[in-house]
Amino acid sequence: MSRIVYVNGHYLAEADAKVSVFDRGFLFADGVYEVSSVIHGRLVDNSAHLKRLQRSLAELKIDFPMTVEEIEAIQLEMLSRNRLEEGILYLQVTRGAADRDFGHPENPEPSLVMFTQVKQLLDNPAAQKGMTVITVDDIRWRRRDIKTVQLLAPSLAKQMATDAGADDAWLIEDGMVTEGTSNNAWIIKGGKLITRHLSSDILHGITRRAVLRLAQEEGIVFEERAFSIDEAKLADEAFVTSASAFVMPVVKIDDQLIGNGNPGAVTSRLRDLYIQEAKRS
Ligand code: PDD
Repeated sequence: MSRIVYVNGHYLAEADAKVSVFDRGFLFADGVYEVSSVIHGRLVDNSAHLKRLQRSLAELKIDFPMTVEEIEAIQLEMLSRNRLEEGILYLQVTRGAADRDFGHPENPEPSLVMFTQVKQLLDNPAAQKGMTVITVDDIRWRRRDIKTVQLLAPSLAKQMATDAGADDAWLIEDGMVTEGTSNNAWIIKGGKLITRHLSSDILHGITRRAVLRLAQEEGIVFEERAFSIDEAKLADEAFVTSASAFVMPVVKIDDQLIGNGNPGAVTSRLRDLYIQEAKRS
């Protein structure tokens, strides 16, 4: 079955879904996106994703005329038309099409595109085994808090990981871990959860926020602060969070096994808690 893709007011077979060559997303990466997960046919934590979308748009001064309710109605229609039970819904807004010029066009018409991807999120086999990561220099721009479609640096880092036989990369700046290529990075030492504090150095993950709240409810102590790659390699457990991975154990960083090289107990508990809650959304 071919997917139905949404493009600016139209629901189209994927082969017929097209955007302009002059779209500024294509020419300048002048656009933002969101990835919401779908479990049992329902969006998880979607209002938080749409709130972050509004913020990203405002930071780039993209004046997108649709309300959150209107966007959500299209999202739900997409799930229904694609009969998506488990996977992700991708949403992208760009400044729109205009003759190529570095400055912003005067009256741009922003473009909205959505598509679905079927993915096994709940029984993801990677969660049993855990992921291996390599460390790569973080060469991204300075506004990583804006979820732009400018993903060349993380894409290159992910490919470096694949070429090295690893699953993903953790990005390093001044000896400290910023985040993963498409996820937030966490370590656990002596029962304490540590993840980098919010700033423009990282994306403010929606899953990160939910996991911090769950940890608090569970009475797990946490610290929001930068941690070094050396500290990470000595951690008892490590994991990443994202809308598509939920809570995913990391069992090896470069050549160093984390703990005994298996997913840790606290990580597994947080994954279970997150999934229980996500199923209730
Ligand atoms: N990525 N950090 C980065 C750089 C990300 O790209 C993502 C998400 C996250 C986690 O954010 P959230 O918990 O809101 O998904 C952190 C998505 C999944 C992607 O690009 O596919």
